[in-house]
Amino acid sequence: MKRECLEIVEKKCQSCRACALGATRHNVVFSDGNPETAKIVFIGEAPGETEDMEGRPFVGRAGQLLNEFLAEAGISREEDLYIINTVKCRPPENRVPTDLEKACCSKFLKAQIDIIKPQAIVLCGSTALKSFMELDKKTTISKIRGQWLTISVDGVDYQAMTIFHPSYLLRNHSMEEGSPRRLMQQDLAQISSEILGVKNGKREFSAV
Ligand code: URA
Repeated sequence: MKRECLEIVEKKCQSCRACALGATRHNVVFSDGNPETAKIVFIGEAPGETEDMEGRPFVGRAGQLLNEFLAEAGISREEDLYIINTVKCRPPENRVPTDLEKACCSKFLKAQIDIIKPQAIVLCGSTALKSFMELDKKTTISKIRGQWLTISVDGVDYQAMTIFHPSYLLRNHSMEEGSPRRLMQQDLAQISSEILGVKNGKREFSAV
């Protein structure tokens, strides 16, 4: 049922030319994961080169690192997540999407969330976070990550947690206490435990 509704949205997205990215993309990168079983909508920034070529989100280097962190936290990318990006087409040279590009994609993003109606939303990096919340200059990802926030999407409230973007972790290798990679492990373990019931690697309640 959710799959069918999403197919209708995806068809519109595939033919979208609302911004200039429509002329340079190889593929629209609409989603990955399982819309029927996902309890979590996972939102990144925009496709990179590999994603643009393959038409799937988070399949390049950052995505491979993300997969390692998800597996370690007991989160199944295939069953627990519906993975999407704020912007569905690749910005040239992987630059940060513009406000116009985000605005053009926002109806697709909101429709995806509305169809899934997730128990929680994970905002991966600052572009995803800023799509739902105005940040003052002092509020950095380092300060806001790991906290449950309430975000409103078309009048419906969702609990959401911001985490570091895996591209940032590709540049930060330390595993010291308090390092970005350790905090990423901590945040995903919390999400896994509180939303999916994973404790000590086992599920205490069913995923569906
Ligand atoms: N970074 C993102 O934010 N999304 C992707 O799909 C890949 C890299």
